Amino acid sequence: MEIKELFINGKWESKERTYALHSPYSGDVIANISMADEADVKKAIEGAKTAYETMKVMPAYKRSEILLNVVQLLRERKEELARIVALEAGKPIRTARGEIDRTIATYQFAAEEAKRIYGETIPMDAAPGGENRLGFTWREPLGVVVAISPFNFPVNLVAHKLGPAFAAGNTVVLKPAEQTPLSALLIAEIFKQAGLPDGALQVITGSGRELSDALITDERVKKVTFTGSAEVGKLIKSKAGLRKVTLELGSNSGLIVEPDAPLEKIVPRCVEGAFSFAGQVCISLQRIYVHDSIYNDFCKRFIEQTKKLTAGDPLDEKTDISAMINLKETERIESWVQEANEQGADIALGGKRDGSVFPPTVLLNVKKDMAVSCQETFAPVVSIVPYHELDEAIHMVNDSSYGLNVAIYTQNILHAIHAAKKLESGGVIINDIPTFRLDHMPYGGVKDSGYGREGIKYAVEEMTELKFVTIKTAF
Ligand code: SIN
Repeated sequence: MEIKELFINGKWESKERTYALHSPYSGDVIANISMADEADVKKAIEGAKTAYETMKVMPAYKRSEILLNVVQLLRERKEELARIVALEAGKPIRTARGEIDRTIATYQFAAEEAKRIYGETIPMDAAPGGENRLGFTWREPLGVVVAISPFNFPVNLVAHKLGPAFAAGNTVVLKPAEQTPLSALLIAEIFKQAGLPDGALQVITGSGRELSDALITDERVKKVTFTGSAEVGKLIKSKAGLRKVTLELGSNSGLIVEPDAPLEKIVPRCVEGAFSFAGQVCISLQRIYVHDSIYNDFCKRFIEQTKKLTAGDPLDEKTDISAMINLKETERIESWVQEANEQGADIALGGKRDGSVFPPTVLLNVKKDMAVSCQETFAPVVSIVPYHELDEAIHMVNDSSYGLNVAIYTQNILHAIHAAKKLESGGVIINDIPTFRLDHMPYGGVKDSGYGREGIKYAVEEMTELKFVTIKTAF
C-alpha cells in the first residue's frame, strides 16, 4: 500500500516509520502514513521561517490571488476531497460534500480578507502633547504559525487556520489529526499548485506528545492555533509561554425551546443539530431544555424524527449517521449512557452500539451532574429536560464548564434579548440550533470552550500584530 509522505519545503518526504490508517467504518487499512520525528519538526519550522521572508513581503493582491486559486482547485476536486473525508473520518458523504462547500467559502473569505487588513488613525491631539503629531496603526504578520487541527472537520477547520494565516502573510506548520492526514496532504498539494511558495505550508504527520511539544515550544514559532479538547488546549496554553495562542475547544451546547416555538419546523433542525456527523461537532446539540407546556409533544416528535435517520457506510448516499472516529470512542459513550441509565436516566431511543456505529440516542430524566450532561459527549447523544421559567432554563444552560454556542427558539423578542444577555457563551443563536455556523461569523468560546476567535476576519486579527507609528509634523 502507498506510503503517504510528509510535505516539507514543497517536497514529499517519506519516513521509514509509518502507521496504518484504518477506516473508522470498515476497519480496513486505507493508507500508511509517515511518522515525523523531532528532526522533521525542526526542519519544517526552519523552512517555514525561511519562507516567511517571501510571504511577509508578498503584496496583498498576490496572497489573495493564491487563495482564490485554491478556491478554484477545490471546486474542481470537490468530489475527490469529499470521498477522502468520508473514508478517513467516517463522515457521511453528503455531509462531507457540505464540508467542502463550506471550505470553499472559507478560502473565498480569506482571499477577500487579505485585501482589507486595515489600520486606523489615532487622534494624537486628544491628549496634551499630541499637537502636530500623526498617529496610525497597521497590522503585520507574525511569522511561523503552528496549526494543530482536529478530525471532525478535517478540511474546513484546516481552512480556518491556513486561510487567515496566509491572508495575513504568515507561514504555517500544520499537524493534522492522526486519523485525518489524507485530506490535509491533498490540501498541501492544492496550495502548491495554487502558487504558494515552497515552505510556506509544511505538513507534519504522526502522533505523540514529543511531536506536539517540539512544535509548540520551538522559539521560532510565533503562534499556536489549536482545535480540540479542553484538556489538550490547557496543556498547550501552559507550554506556549508568551506565544500567541488561539484555542477552539469543546462544549456541551444547550438549546432552550420556548412555548411559542413552531415544533413542526424546529424539530427536524434539532435532530440535525444533535446527530450530524454522529455528534462529533464542538457545537453539537447536546442538551435541550423545553418548556414544560410543550415537553411531551416535543419529545414525541423528536423521537419520531430521529427514527428516520439511516445508519451505515459513510460512502452510501443514504447514510445519515456512520461510525464514530474509533471503537474506543464508541465504547466510551456507550459506558457513559449506561452509567446515566444506572443513575436514573431513561433511554428513550438508542443506547447500544453496533460495532463502531453508535445509534442516535435520546435520554430523558437526565440530571445535570451525569457525564452525558455536564461533560462533552462528542457523540450522537442528546438529553431533553423540561423547565418552567425562562430564567431556570438559562441557569441550566449556563451551569456548565463550557460556553461556545448556545441557542434559544422564541418569537418573544424580549425573551430572546434577555437570554442573549444572560447566556454565558461566545455565541448566542436565536431561532436556530447552536450547531449553526457560517464561516465568517466570529466563532470561539468562553470558560473551557477556548480562547480567542476564529471566523476569517477575527482570526486574521489574532494572526497579526498591531504596530503603532507616530510622526511629529512640526519641530
Ligand atoms: C467545530 O466542531 O469546532 C466546528 C464546528 C463547525 O465549524 O461547524
